[in-house]
Amino acid sequence: MSHNKTLDNCRFETRAIHEGTDADAWEGATLPPIYQSAAHIHETADSLSRTFAGQSRDHIYMRLSNPTNQHLEQKLAALESGKAAVVTSSGMAAISNACMTLLRAGDEFVASSALFMSTFSLFSNVFKKYGITVRFAHPLKPGEVAAAINEKTRFVYMETITNPGMEIADIRAVADIAHENGIPLLMDNTLASPWLCRPLELGADIVLHSTTKYFSGHGGAMGGVVIDRGEFDWQTEKFEDFSPFAGRDPSLSFLTRMWKEHHVNCGTTPAPFHSYLTAIGLSTLGVRMEKHMANAFTVAGFLKKHPKVNWVNYPGFDDHPCHDTAKSQFGNRGFGTMLTFGLENQEACFTLIDNLKMILNLANLGDCKSLIIHPYSSQYVSFPQEVRDRLADPCLIRFSVGIEHADDICRDLDQALNAIG
Ligand SMILES: Cc1ncc(COP(=O)(O)O)c(C=O)c1O
Repeated sequence: MSHNKTLDNCRFETRAIHEGTDADAWEGATLPPIYQSAAHIHETADSLSRTFAGQSRDHIYMRLSNPTNQHLEQKLAALESGKAAVVTSSGMAAISNACMTLLRAGDEFVASSALFMSTFSLFSNVFKKYGITVRFAHPLKPGEVAAAINEKTRFVYMETITNPGMEIADIRAVADIAHENGIPLLMDNTLASPWLCRPLELGADIVLHSTTKYFSGHGGAMGGVVIDRGEFDWQTEKFEDFSPFAGRDPSLSFLTRMWKEHHVNCGTTPAPFHSYLTAIGLSTLGVRMEKHMANAFTVAGFLKKHPKVNWVNYPGFDDHPCHDTAKSQFGNRGFGTMLTFGLENQEACFTLIDNLKMILNLANLGDCKSLIIHPYSSQYVSFPQEVRDRLADPCLIRFSVGIEHADDICRDLDQALNAIG
């Protein structure tokens, strides 16, 4: 059974559906088969030996590779304009694998001072145990990034849209600074998705995602991905420790090393069922993102006018400090699907959440359902008080705008806000 795979000149929405499909190999099925098998048979001892030696691309054992996971890798590499990808069991597995591939004891790296909480904790607490130093720089101040780089710095790390700050860094400016210093730029593109922004096209070298969010789209799967543009020059003195991984394709030295050293040995492979759900979710990414963007715009405008709301942080507002960067980087496709807003105090935040009838109070984002959380009392509750006060605000609500009808989202928020005394 043949499948038309001519995707030349096709737009993102079409490619999100068709990239990576291989109906020939799937007996004509339109969805990727779930290869639920821990290991794969080899007809001869020589075949298994040659595969272990890297002379064949056959599968050996699920922790090393799996056809369903591989389908998702091909799809995601294509959609992010990358050369190759490795999918992982979670977004944090992708982040820790990518960073640990680049870091050795005594190394340093520069990271945005506004990071997702677990990324912050990994960088500032866990890596410290191994003698690794992170230097934080403000995502909107490329000069701070430049000033923080020294001869020990191995990479720069940023988020396309910060969580929960909603800052949008100038990717090209930061990539230029990294490259002037001979180091790669890693971008966590989770909050934007490649529908809104493709950092590899703006100069970044490696893109990471929590695929748990917009890619899967329905809150049913967990996963992550590391995507390599395949253009960074690893054949330099600074990265001479990558030369054993140059193999057949030196441009993929980073991804090869990550796969061999960390993915395989730390066991960060996703279960194929999660990759299957994520691949299906990706097919509707385009239409979901369009609706998410439109709803976020409407909800932000509604909240801004509400008497119980003190402030709204949403890059779509003309006076938002990142509005112009968002417009130039996102090409008028939108401003993200997340926003934060401020109420009088923590008690008001709790009253709002406790009175919602449809919007869900939970620790996730990027679902088709609208999701709300009070980060100070939840995600940041066990951080040391000084760090907690610096990273979170007791009056702040984070809202991931879903794709329900915008009228219903605003009505639910309105009745819950009006319950605040
Ligand atoms: C920006 C960002 N990066 C990474 C992660 C971690 O992803 P996961 O929960 O899939 O490990 C999250 C989770 O919320 C996130 O928001």
